[in-house]
Amino acid sequence: MPLIYLDNAATSFPKPPTVAADMGNFLANEAVNPGRSGFDLSLKAGARLDNLRRRLAIFFKHPTQDPNRVVFTNNATEALNIAIQGVCIPGDHIVSTVLEHNSVLRPLFELQKTGIRHDLAPCDGRGFVEPVSIESLLKPETRLVVMTHASNVLGTVQPVDEIGALCRSRGIHFLLDAAQTAGVVPIDMAAIGADLLVFTGHKGLMGPTGTGGLLIAGEGNIKPTRWGGTGVRSAVRGHLEEYPYRLEAGTLNTVGLVGLNAGLDWLLTNDAGKIENELSTRLLKGLADIPSVSVVGLEKGEFDLSAASRTAVLSILVESMDPAKVGMFLDADWDIAVRTGLQCAPLVHEAMGTTHGGTIRISPGPFNTPQEIDILLEALASFK
Ligand SMILES: Cc1ncc(COP(=O)(O)O)c(C=O)c1O
Repeated sequence: MPLIYLDNAATSFPKPPTVAADMGNFLANEAVNPGRSGFDLSLKAGARLDNLRRRLAIFFKHPTQDPNRVVFTNNATEALNIAIQGVCIPGDHIVSTVLEHNSVLRPLFELQKTGIRHDLAPCDGRGFVEPVSIESLLKPETRLVVMTHASNVLGTVQPVDEIGALCRSRGIHFLLDAAQTAGVVPIDMAAIGADLLVFTGHKGLMGPTGTGGLLIAGEGNIKPTRWGGTGVRSAVRGHLEEYPYRLEAGTLNTVGLVGLNAGLDWLLTNDAGKIENELSTRLLKGLADIPSVSVVGLEKGEFDLSAASRTAVLSILVESMDPAKVGMFLDADWDIAVRTGLQCAPLVHEAMGTTHGGTIRISPGPFNTPQEIDILLEALASFK
């Protein structure tokens, strides 16, 4: 039985074939160090990166579309760390939410040890954070609001336009974690009013692992937390002040970024979000007929997944069966890959009452088929 992969919220798989093809070609023929030397091939590799920065600035609607304000990192976690630690100083206060991934929560709890406090806004029973809950936590010393665009457990897309406007009106930095939405939900950084936007390359953007980044709007006076080689003005003793070098140190993952560029190409002609939403809607309709299965945050039988409010990520529970056991049976007996447990976002589970055992997360990708969803439904119906 071929594998039915339904764990695209962890990383998208498979990737469009052009991703591996372009990476392979680049690796075989052009993979010299970008921008470190003056010969043609090095300049060409550097130009590929500049071009990708330009494309990403346009893709995310950066307010000035300045390619130099796109900083590459190895993943969203690294970009979040750079942004949070680069903006805040001891004595500051940060507001975030219980929906966050550990890539936000753990930096916040670490920073607490250095005198940077935080408060976390709650979510409602359906997994949405209300702007008023953020507002009520703001203090005079609040420097940063950081939050996920969509929950990686529930798929709920948050009201970030209102929260962005709130932050702007108070002069507070707004850092948006778009790890779960980039590529599947249109993102307009300027309209949202996000000062900082983090993306990962290996999920909805269809690129390989080891790619991600941070977009910086406005002054974005972020202090670097790593220093090193940039390939530019080597005689200068300190690290360069200007973006993107300011926050980049060391050789970039050029091979991976070539793959990310191919992923972006693919997204221009394929509406991944729409395909995934149709698959999720089919799944939800089918689940309505399986009495032993409940969907976390949704009423039984609810299946309106309008793209504006939810991604295709769903968390389910099977009555009187431990999620880990369900995952094991799906894997062993049906060759279906899903994620079970706490999904690196423990406070969502506290909020939804699913801490014990977590949930079974199902996240279709653009290469899944309706038939694969039907096989999953058949499998779930068999667990009685
Ligand atoms: C909401 C959210 N933020 C951040 C991350 C971290 O992404 P990465 O693995 O690229 O560091 C994830 C990954 O699952 C996520 O779902």
